[in-house]
Amino acid sequence: NERTYIMIKPDGVQRGLIGKIITRFEERGFKLIALKLVTATEAHLEKHYADLAGKPFFPGLIKYMASGPVIATVWEGLDAVKTGRVMLGATNPLASPIGSIRGDYALAVGRNIIHGSDSVENAEKEIALWFPEGTAQYTSVAEPWIYE
Ligand code: GTP
Ligand code: MG
Repeated sequence: NERTYIMIKPDGVQRGLIGKIITRFEERGFKLIALKLVTATEAHLEKHYADLAGKPFFPGLIKYMASGPVIATVWEGLDAVKTGRVMLGATNPLASPIGSIRGDYALAVGRNIIHGSDSVENAEKEIALWFPEGTAQYTSVAEPWIYE
């Protein structure tokens, strides 16, 4: 079953959006298999965003992401990576449709409240980086009502 790494960024935590965001993934039918609140170090975030090192906004991005606790989560389900990205919206909240998380709750690209893995390969890398202890395994009673 496909897994994706979804992280509520420090602005999402500060703005009190944790419950609303988690609810969206639960209601869609995804299964929560890991969750923690953690203030990441800059070194850890530089690994997470290694692909973006060299971008002009990289130092600001690392400072922003290290400025307070984030909610790190892993969700499992059908096409979790691609569907998660659709639920997030576009990188720029102003280009995100109403109904997407960024389209409903954010305005600025540098304060876009949530991260989602962009490929299955990166999802597995990010899950290993944020949850070296591993994720949970359990059967949800709702599964036969979510999948045929
Ligand atoms: P993530 O889910 O956070 O990885 O966002 P993304 O995949 O939609 O975009 P990308 O990986 O290209 O960029 C990572 C993060 O860097 C974005 O979510 C933004 O917070 C930030 N970012 C990207 N482009 C810009 C930019 O042009 N200016 C600023 N200030 N921040 C940017
Ligand atoms: Mg990205």
